[in-house]
Amino acid sequence: MLPNYYQFYCPVKILSGQLAVSNIPYEMTLLHAKKAFIITDKGVVKAGLIDIVKSAFEDSTCEMGCIFDDVPQDSGSSVVNKAAMLFEKEKCDCLIAVGGGSALDTAKGVNILVSENAKNLLKFQGVEKITKDLKPLIAVPTTAGTGSEVTKIAVIYNEDTKEKMAFVSDRLYPKIAVIDSRMTMTMPPKITAATGMDALTHAIEAYICLQNNPIDDIYAKTAIDLIRRYLIRSTENGKDEEARLGMANAALFAGIAFSNSMVGMVHALAHALGGVFHVPHGIANAILLPWCLEYNISKEPKKIAELAAILGGSLEYLEHTDLAHITVSLVRNLLQRLNRISNIPMRLRDAGVTRDKLSVAARLAINDGALIYNPAEVSYDDALTIYEKAF
Ligand SMILES: NC(=O)c1ccc[n+]([C@@H]2O[C@H](COP(=O)([O-])OP(=O)(O)OC[C@H]3O[C@@H](n4cnc5c(N)ncnc54)[C@H](O)[C@@H]3O)[C@@H](O)[C@H]2O)c1
Ligand SMILES: [Fe+2]
Repeated sequence: MLPNYYQFYCPVKILSGQLAVSNIPYEMTLLHAKKAFIITDKGVVKAGLIDIVKSAFEDSTCEMGCIFDDVPQDSGSSVVNKAAMLFEKEKCDCLIAVGGGSALDTAKGVNILVSENAKNLLKFQGVEKITKDLKPLIAVPTTAGTGSEVTKIAVIYNEDTKEKMAFVSDRLYPKIAVIDSRMTMTMPPKITAATGMDALTHAIEAYICLQNNPIDDIYAKTAIDLIRRYLIRSTENGKDEEARLGMANAALFAGIAFSNSMVGMVHALAHALGGVFHVPHGIANAILLPWCLEYNISKEPKKIAELAAILGGSLEYLEHTDLAHITVSLVRNLLQRLNRISNIPMRLRDAGVTRDKLSVAARLAINDGALIYNPAEVSYDDALTIYEKAF
């Protein structure tokens, strides 16, 4: 059934395939840009991925102005400020983010500061607080997870409040997403598994959340289908090019879906675990996803049931609620297999979480904006119960 009203928007040009990175300088000329500010992290540099970007510039009149590789995991506002100052100093005119969600979101934060001519990110936090058009951002994801290359969202850690700040604006969409299988082939198995589970969480939450729409549903289902085919394969064998491209596209499709539908309680609870315990985003989502899906069955049995078929377990004669429980088991099985291959933790206690601060995380989680879109309401006690089940 169609909703009474919905919106869908994705203004990002997508380049996907072998050697897509080679087209970046040409795309820069189309954007009237000449000098790029590269934002990345040390792990990505060490994996040789910046060299791939550099080689694309060899015969070009466009240049890589400056390489900022100081992005930490779950990047924070101080890093964004530092990079923005360097961008101004080097007089760059566009940004190329090469990395996982941390590098991509840092680039979005830097873009806000340099385009708004501002010093402090705080006042742009929230929904549609950015007033100026941003500089062109070319996003080259090297993980297959966050989908930040096609989202209007940036998540940046606030070192003072120890919370993750969310920035949401149509102006935050990158101009171009470059999906090149060479860029994810070096990802270690555990990061492949964790970021892939982030993509699965985006697709599932986009599909079942209150703001979902029929266009997002198509993107979300396609993403889940690609993840079923390729997540185990790319975790088992990082050099499997077809699986890498499949997962990179899955993350992109899931990103388009949730950038419009938004996410739900898994992300609310995961953001809080990131803030309090620094659990990597994908790992927090992976552990929480089956528990939160189970929690949502009472409100959304039909949509959760529909996912069983895509995840590989179609048993159409079953009632929606029974089928929905099969969906939860399929997600749990996937996590167990990934745990065996990559050692991704299945329990919060194995991911650096301690019981004494779960109440602090639960309090943060119930104030997270993602909860607004969750099918079922979540109280402080509910959040704490989920954390304890997943502990
Ligand atoms: N903007 C959005 O729409 C959105 C959505 C979900 C999550 N996020 C944010 O994204 C961040 C997480 O991003 P992530 O999960 O992609 O991880 P990440 O960017 O933090 O990277 C994780 C690690 O993987 C390494 N790495 C990345 N690609 C590699 C490669 N190809 N080869 C070798 N090593 C590689 C990095 O060096 C880093 O050490 C969180 O801050 C999260 O809140 C943003
Ligand atoms: Fe996410």
